[in-house]
Amino acid sequence: MPVITNIEDLKRIYARRVPKMFFDYAESGSWTEQTFRDNTNDFEQIRLRQRVAVDMAGRTTASRMIGQEVAMPVALAPVGLTGMQSADGEIKAARAAEAFGVPFTLSTMSINSIEEVAEATTKPFWFQLYTMKDEDYMRRLIGRAKAANCSALVITLDLQILGQRHKDLKNGLSAPPKLTPRTIANLMTKWAWGIEMLGAKRRNFGNIVGHVEGISDASSLGAWTAEQFDPSLDWGKIEKLKEMWGGKVILKGILDEEDAKMAAKVGADAITVSNHGGRQLDGALSSIRMLPRIMDAVGDQVEVHLDSGIRSGQDVLKALALGATGTMIGRAFVYGLGAMGQQGVTRALEVIHKELDTSMALCGEKSVSNLGRHNLMVPEDFTGRWA
Ligand SMILES: Cc1cc2nc3c(=O)[nH]c(=O)nc-3n(C[C@H](O)[C@H](O)[C@H](O)COP(=O)(O)O)c2cc1C
Repeated sequence: MPVITNIEDLKRIYARRVPKMFFDYAESGSWTEQTFRDNTNDFEQIRLRQRVAVDMAGRTTASRMIGQEVAMPVALAPVGLTGMQSADGEIKAARAAEAFGVPFTLSTMSINSIEEVAEATTKPFWFQLYTMKDEDYMRRLIGRAKAANCSALVITLDLQILGQRHKDLKNGLSAPPKLTPRTIANLMTKWAWGIEMLGAKRRNFGNIVGHVEGISDASSLGAWTAEQFDPSLDWGKIEKLKEMWGGKVILKGILDEEDAKMAAKVGADAITVSNHGGRQLDGALSSIRMLPRIMDAVGDQVEVHLDSGIRSGQDVLKALALGATGTMIGRAFVYGLGAMGQQGVTRALEVIHKELDTSMALCGEKSVSNLGRHNLMVPEDFTGRWA
């Protein structure tokens, strides 16, 4: 077993183990991938301020996200097709998150269904909703999340239509993979993945297949999105969904001050500053660069979380120091899952926790709630260059 000390180590193993189609699906951004690259590069622009001779005994990363206790403010983001990265991947990731004490978010486009994840876990998880044209189906989906005791509804706002990812089109991304000479040739080199997958509870979209009638192609993410997602989603509809749910709501995919203000106005419990990991509007600014502006606009009105580009505990620290109360990781946990299943997700969380805890201590802070701008060195033009 190789010694895993950082998220990159998990990514290297992941790249070897998982079929190209699913590796490419995770490891890509839309169009030119500029925003995808900026998300990670912009974290590197921010530096940490070292402090010494501060008593570090008894420090903690424990915190709260939407009122729920968390071992560290890092939730697992909703990731479609997680169960194609590793057999029953959603169940494995949810179990790892539960044992670690951080929230797990199940995507609408998951492989394991809401019910399967609920049955395999003991604590409530968050459910992510994509809004669909079919209102009855939406109502049923929300009802299923309520019945499964989900503790938050994460409504994703930045994917009414799908940003194009070239590799997914070229690979013919689908779940399960369609067997063509090219996919067969690649699958034959990923035998460990294949053997595991044969024993999976499910290999199709568990929240969709069997729950919707008349779908032309439920195996293709692209086809399903184009056919079913609601392009007319607006703030009025968001308010209705919030009412229908009746519990905690997180609005995910906010990247602009004006949208952040609207989200606060409709009474979101939290917003996630996110550009979907650079998978939607290519050319948009990175989440970390937009965070200070959004904090200025709504930081005193609504809880603010951030995702997109987090690959280390230092990145988490930077987001918290710029004002976020919580963060989400997408690819960082997917690498772990694809590399080593549940154990790999646990390892990803351990790595990030250790980096956060150590960096926080070296910044002279004993608690994540004390982190602030005083811990950072931020380039003068970090937020202002693209006025
Ligand atoms: C492979 C993949 C699938 C995703 N699927 C979903 C999804 O189904 N629903 C959603 O709201 N966001 C989805 N996202 C976006 C993530 O929730 C999150 O915003 C993003 O991964 C954060 O960026 P990071 O991967 O750099 O951490 C997906 C991201 C990836 C990488």
